[in-house]
Amino acid sequence: MKQIPFGPNYDEMLHPEKIPKSLRQKVLNAKSDEFNPLNLFNITWRKPDGDINRVVLPKALTGIEANIIVLVGKDFPSGSHKVGPAYSTLIEGAVDGTIIPGKHHILGPSTGNFGIGVAYICHLMKYDATVIMPDTMSKERYARIKHYGANLELTPGTESDVILTLEKTHELNKKAGNVALAQFELMPNYRFHRHVTGYSAIEAVQGIGNSRIALFASAPGSAGTLAAGDQIKQAFPEAKIAALEPYECSTLADGGRGQHRIEGIGDKMCTLIHNVLNTDFIALISDEDAVKGLKILRDGKSVLENYGIKPSTVDALRDVFGVSGVCNVLGAIKMAKYLRLGPEENIVTVATDGFDRYDSVIESLDKRTLEINDSVLNRWYQDIYLKADTFNILDTRSDKAKQRLFKQKEDDWLKFGYEKSYLDAMKSMKFWDDEYAKLHHYNEMIQNMRKEDD
Ligand SMILES: Cc1ncc(COP(=O)(O)O)c(C=O)c1O
Repeated sequence: MKQIPFGPNYDEMLHPEKIPKSLRQKVLNAKSDEFNPLNLFNITWRKPDGDINRVVLPKALTGIEANIIVLVGKDFPSGSHKVGPAYSTLIEGAVDGTIIPGKHHILGPSTGNFGIGVAYICHLMKYDATVIMPDTMSKERYARIKHYGANLELTPGTESDVILTLEKTHELNKKAGNVALAQFELMPNYRFHRHVTGYSAIEAVQGIGNSRIALFASAPGSAGTLAAGDQIKQAFPEAKIAALEPYECSTLADGGRGQHRIEGIGDKMCTLIHNVLNTDFIALISDEDAVKGLKILRDGKSVLENYGIKPSTVDALRDVFGVSGVCNVLGAIKMAKYLRLGPEENIVTVATDGFDRYDSVIESLDKRTLEINDSVLNRWYQDIYLKADTFNILDTRSDKAKQRLFKQKEDDWLKFGYEKSYLDAMKSMKFWDDEYAKLHHYNEMIQNMRKEDD
C-alpha cells in the first residue's frame, strides 16, 4: 500500500486523546516549535487538558440574557482554525493519490488564513505551495505566508474580490503538476467543520444553561465553518443557523457586492460547499461596527471594567478576537434579540483567528478617527454591543428563499464548469449526509496509509 505523510485523521482531530499514547506527549511538546511536523496532531479545538477551547462571554459585554459561547480558533497551529480545512483537503488528496509530495505544487486560494494554513502545512508536509489572495489584506497575513515559505500570487482588490483569486486559481490549476486546495469547492472543508467543529461546539455548551444549542452563528467566507451547524442540528433539531454577512457586501441576502473591511468573510458568492438548506437566517453586520467592536476589546479596559466586567476577563478577551470574530459576536447578539432567547439558551459562535494579525487594522482606525478616548469608547460600546438592533435580518427558511440561494449558487459556479445536475443534487440533505459519511473511509485510510518515520 502506498504511503502518505504522517498526520491525524478526522477522529483524532476531534479527540486527540485517541492519538497513539507513545506520541501524545511528543505532540504536546511540539507546540513550542511551530516547525515540528508533529504539530499536525495539534489541529484540534481542544486545549492540552482536553477541554474545548472556548470563552463564555460576560453578559455585561453582550447585554443579552442568553449565553454566548465562542470557540477560540487562534490556538490552532498557524494561528487560526483554517489550518484544519487546509490539512483535511491535502490529506484526502494524499489518500486518493491525487497529491504527491515532490510531484505536485499546491495552490491555496484565500483571503489570508486559509492561505496561511496552506503555507504552514505544506512546509510541514514538504510540498511547494503558492497562495493566491487579494493584494489589500492586512500586511500581517502576507508576512506569515512568507514566514512559512510559500509563494504569493496577488490579485487586485479587497476581501470582496475573492472571485478574482478563484479565477486565477482555476487558470493556474490547468498547469500540469498544480493542485488547488479549493476551499470554496471541496468537501474536506465541509467534513472537517461538520465533524470536528460540530461535535466540539456540542461539547462546548455542556454544563451551560440547558446544555443545548439554540443558535449557531457564523459569517461565511468559504462557509466551511457553517457546516458545524449541520451536525449541531442533528443533536439539537430546534437549533437555528444564522449566516452573517457584512452590511456593505450582502451577497447572500440580496446580491449586494460592495467592498468591506471584515477580512475572511463576505466573499461575494454563495460557495459551492455552503449547504443553504440549513441556513435559517442571514443577518447583516456593519464592518465599521466590527472594527470598532474590536478596538473596544483591545483598548476599552477601563470602560468595560466600569460595566462590571472582571479585570481578568477583560484581559483574557484582548487577544481572542479578530474582526470577523467580533462580527460573529455582534451577529449572535442581534439574533438572540430577534429570537428572544432567554438565560437558559446557548448561542455558539467562532473566533476564527486572534488579534495577532490585526494591529494594522486598528492602526488604520486610529488614523482615520479624530480622537478615541474613553468617552468615545464608552459611546461605541453602548451603541455597538448594548444597543445592537434587530434590523437587517432575513428569514431564509421559506422555499422561495432557498430557490433564490440555489440560483445564486448556480450563477456563481456553473461558469467554473460544474454540472447543473451536481448543483441540483445539493438541494437534498442526502447529498450532504452522503458527503459527510465519506469521513469514515478517510478516517480508516489515513490511519492505515500514514508512514511514521517522517
Ligand atoms: C478571519 C476569518 N474569519 C472567518 C472566516 C470564514 O470562515 P469559513 O471559510 O469557514 O466560512 C475566515 C476564512 O478564511 C477567516 O479567515
